[in-house]
Amino acid sequence: MKINKSKLWALGASVLIIWSCSNSEEVIPDLNVPEDEEDTGEVVIPLKELFEDYFEIGAAVTPQQADLGTAHGQTLRKHFSSITAENVMKPDALQRVKGQYTWSSADQLVQFAKDNNMLVRGHCLTWHSQSPDWMFYDENGDLLSRELALAQLEEHITTVVTRYKDDVYAWDVVNEAMFDWDPAGVIEYREDSPWYQMIGETYIDSAFVYARRADPNAKLFYNDYNSIFSWKRNKIYNMVKRLKDNNIPIDGIGLQGHWMVNTSEADIRTTLDLFRSLDVEIQITELDIPVYLSSDEPGATVYNDTFSFRQKMAYTMIFDVLLDYSDIITNVTFWGIGDDHTWLDQPGRKAFPFLLDEELNPKPVYFEVQKLVQNR
Ligand code: G3I
Repeated sequence: MKINKSKLWALGASVLIIWSCSNSEEVIPDLNVPEDEEDTGEVVIPLKELFEDYFEIGAAVTPQQADLGTAHGQTLRKHFSSITAENVMKPDALQRVKGQYTWSSADQLVQFAKDNNMLVRGHCLTWHSQSPDWMFYDENGDLLSRELALAQLEEHITTVVTRYKDDVYAWDVVNEAMFDWDPAGVIEYREDSPWYQMIGETYIDSAFVYARRADPNAKLFYNDYNSIFSWKRNKIYNMVKRLKDNNIPIDGIGLQGHWMVNTSEADIRTTLDLFRSLDVEIQITELDIPVYLSSDEPGATVYNDTFSFRQKMAYTMIFDVLLDYSDIITNVTFWGIGDDHTWLDQPGRKAFPFLLDEELNPKPVYFEVQKLVQNR
């Protein structure tokens, strides 16, 4: 734990109070400073309190982090009302070998959430990536038949969703099914996905039906990245409209939110307006904002004032927009807790994508976001 000046002062004040109480009847003024007062004098309002009138606030976690004996566990309990498994609920983690489920890590996360009064987002049930080969190929390496592929998908979804029926409140039922990087907007679905190749786009429909059968109460989401770009948001819109028109049970769209410091406000607003017209819930499921303007910018390993400035601009813009749409946004989840652990880091190039730093302390950008919310 970081011991700063104000914490030392608080400790001193507490000792003084205890000493005084035991030595006289004198009324002692409350000298305690809030536990979270930083050197700057700014009081930290935990994220889940800051946003409690608007949406749940979550983090993606590993099993090691979901432990109150660690700084990560304490930070989770303090700041977040929702968790998502970063990896351990994916198909290859839960059923790497056909018919043999491995529940221990996922169970541990769920238990941590229950113990600490948090929600769990389930990620994810159907994906072309991080899925075991047996879901797609036979022993000769050939794609499975449509019937077998669907039967196995149904078995997987039914088993997983049933197990966590009372514990997981929202599922990413299908992840990243739309074709990316197609500005002309010609190709709708990701045709290189084995799911698409075995079944066609209706694997999406089937996955939602299986999930709903297993848990009538869970919120069922389609989840994707780059969703705010015109070519992709229109595909997602068309696909979700098709599902709804066919009475397929879908409750919402997850925008992953792997955005940039120079992400366009107009793109986010236009996307939220478009998705609003589908009458679905929105969740921001994997928010992180790396400090670089582009992948060409040289990497750094130290957080500097330029990075801080960029993130202040980006995060305040983003949360301002998200608050404007809080009638349809029900959860905003960061894809990690603090800057010490993120899928974005590369050797010699740290991404620093969160509001909490590598020691899990609030960064200056945290206080800018806090101010923004308080001033609304
Ligand atoms: O499990 C193996 C382990 O057995 C092995 O020893 C180790 C050696 O590197 O690798 C482990 O697997 C890694 C896995 O994370 C678990 O740590 C994989 O190599 C690594 O590629 C994998 O990365 C994950 C990535 O999804 C895979 O696509 C990231 O942690 C995770 O943050 C990322 O999350 C995705 C979302 O699910 C979907 N949206 C995009 C997002 C970011 O890519």
